[in-house]
Amino acid sequence: MTTRQRQLFVTTALPYANGHFHIGHIMEYIQADIWVRYQRMQGHAVNFVGADDTHGAPIMIAAEKAGKTPEQFVADIAAGRPQYLNGFHISHDNWHSTHSSENTELAKQIYRDLQATGLIETRTIEQFFDPEKAMFLPDRYIKGECPKCHAQDQYGDNCEVCGSVYAPTDLINPFSALSGAKPVLKNSEHFFFKLSDPRCVEFLQNWTQDGKLQPEVANKVKEWFTVRTNPDGSQSEGLGDWDISRDAPYFGIEIPDAPGKYFYVWLDAPVGYLASLKNLLDKRGQSYADYMANPEVEQYHFIGKDIVTFHTLFWPAMLHFSGRKTPNSVFVHGFLTVNNGEKMSKSRGTGLDPLKYLKLGMNPEWLRYYLAAKLSSRNEDIDFNADDFMARVNSDLIGKYVNVASRAAGFLTKRFDGQVAQQLSADGQALVDKLHAARDTLAALYEERDYGKAMKEIMLLTDAVNSYTDVVKPWDLAKHADKVAELHDACSVLVNCFAILTRYLAPVLPQLAAQVGPFVGQDMTRWDAAAPVQRIQPYQHLMQRVTPEQLDALFEVAAAAEKEPKQAAKPASTAGGASKTVAPTADPNAPGGEALAPTIGIEDFAKIDLRIAKILACEAVEGSTKLLRLTLDMGEKNAEGQATTRNVFSGIASMYQPEQLVGKLTVLVANLAPRKMKFGISEGMVLAASHADEKTHPGIYVLEPFPGAQPGMRIH
Ligand code: 2FM
Ligand code: ZN
Repeated sequence: MTTRQRQLFVTTALPYANGHFHIGHIMEYIQADIWVRYQRMQGHAVNFVGADDTHGAPIMIAAEKAGKTPEQFVADIAAGRPQYLNGFHISHDNWHSTHSSENTELAKQIYRDLQATGLIETRTIEQFFDPEKAMFLPDRYIKGECPKCHAQDQYGDNCEVCGSVYAPTDLINPFSALSGAKPVLKNSEHFFFKLSDPRCVEFLQNWTQDGKLQPEVANKVKEWFTVRTNPDGSQSEGLGDWDISRDAPYFGIEIPDAPGKYFYVWLDAPVGYLASLKNLLDKRGQSYADYMANPEVEQYHFIGKDIVTFHTLFWPAMLHFSGRKTPNSVFVHGFLTVNNGEKMSKSRGTGLDPLKYLKLGMNPEWLRYYLAAKLSSRNEDIDFNADDFMARVNSDLIGKYVNVASRAAGFLTKRFDGQVAQQLSADGQALVDKLHAARDTLAALYEERDYGKAMKEIMLLTDAVNSYTDVVKPWDLAKHADKVAELHDACSVLVNCFAILTRYLAPVLPQLAAQVGPFVGQDMTRWDAAAPVQRIQPYQHLMQRVTPEQLDALFEVAAAAEKEPKQAAKPASTAGGASKTVAPTADPNAPGGEALAPTIGIEDFAKIDLRIAKILACEAVEGSTKLLRLTLDMGEKNAEGQATTRNVFSGIASMYQPEQLVGKLTVLVANLAPRKMKFGISEGMVLAASHADEKTHPGIYVLEPFPGAQPGMRIH
């Protein structure tokens, strides 16, 4: 493996800001996150970014329907992102928005640079216009009778009944899907990026065929240089020019020197990758210009197979002809189907609701492992199958991997005070060496995103360790007073193997690796081999099994789930995290979705003692995916004058990683009677904000005071 520190700029596709994440998004984020975590473990410098894709007619129209400005609409969607990203341990360094100053500036600059190369031209085109809405209609917003099979109510680009592809102007009796009005044909000047220019064609032929793309992707792209399908279904030769403008009204970025003309959303969407990076570097005080000018920087985009054209033709051409660095590669994945069902539709998403998964308390690392076990470096679809999921997680992670530690740890702690033998038997050392020897093979598999093969290799190694255990039988050795040395050796071999296996799984199971680190006294964030384990801490149970009941609940039909929508989410609120104890009735017109509580006098308010508290420590709570345990300092002292702290459980684990909160100030309800909970006593409640309707506005946000506030200060 290379020792040079690589500079990696990695992105996930920007999701449209008109809906919450579905499992297809989460799959891509997990795929990219595993790669990024592996690269970080190798010591490489990674900037891993995402953002919301906010522009375009569908979002503008959805906002109008919701009675919101587009800005408010996309901001509300953005507010729901962290609980998914944190919930599945996705470690983006930044999450930004295409509706941002950085994106506006960069998109305009790229456009100006393209103009200077002579690759932008204007043409007048004829398009349907809605006279009532006073806007040009995108194809999807024109409906009418199919010209082929005469089915009614078909979209302007294709018929869902007979499958014909046609132009909107071919529809019989067309009408606007927005207003119902009969659209009229109207001329408009549009801006085109001349992809058919021989310079572009030559560049793209080389760029797409020089080995940087997955072979199956490169082959598909090759076809587009010879033949393309026109809007009316006919075919033409070679690359077509790309219409990059839309007329007002449009939620987007106005084209320089062209009032009333906006960039088509797909022009500024990928620029959002750069905007998010720039926003990140600006926040760190680093120079975006210097970073992008560094020839060592490698740029990689993880995307789905449905957006290959944009990322392998339009985007590299935009970058190259505007004088910018082009991606080193584009990593394309297939679709995820659920229980052999339909593919994940962008607009609908089916089957597996990721938020429900988290709210049911299902371990995000089960899903990370299961997807890793199924993913390869190829652009191919994978299926989430509930039975297979349970079998694989329970058998591989619990039955094989966790088993290695649980079989050894108790003996080491009870019989050897946690001390691990440093000189191992020849057989034991050979097994440890065998595990170490797999490091480079596994590194190559992670590098190639061949996670399925990597998981298989790791499980084969785990099998070897379990076979060793079955041969040496520590439980039998423990029964014989004269076998103490053998018992110590066997258990020492096992914890060393467990530490190595954990390191290999760490890109996939980061939280579990973080728990195992202190247990074996090793830093699990490095890929390189660590020194042998010296001593272990008492073993804490690492992972629960998946149960059939959880899967039943996950796939329970929506109607049944709707009956008690708050049930799964509520423990978070009653566990000292949020201030509500009764499920509020969501009222879409009320602020925050709920009516104001009855008026109280100042004397009522004075009964609540709110104090500033400093979060000294924060940790996950074993057995709960909702709770974090906070150790708070609010300046209290005991009778001896020694500083004391409070232990508070808060239902905010879906939103925050423990380390994000340590060192922060927050607000504590300090005179709330202590509450005995399953995990211990909660001595107060941390204030956090959430919307009444957790479904449409998921998220819970801890309060933080302005600078200057000190622990112990009362809030009046
Ligand atoms: O297909 C989509 O969901 C787009 N929002 C992806 C954009 S990726 C990038 F180009 F911004
Ligand atoms: Zn038809």
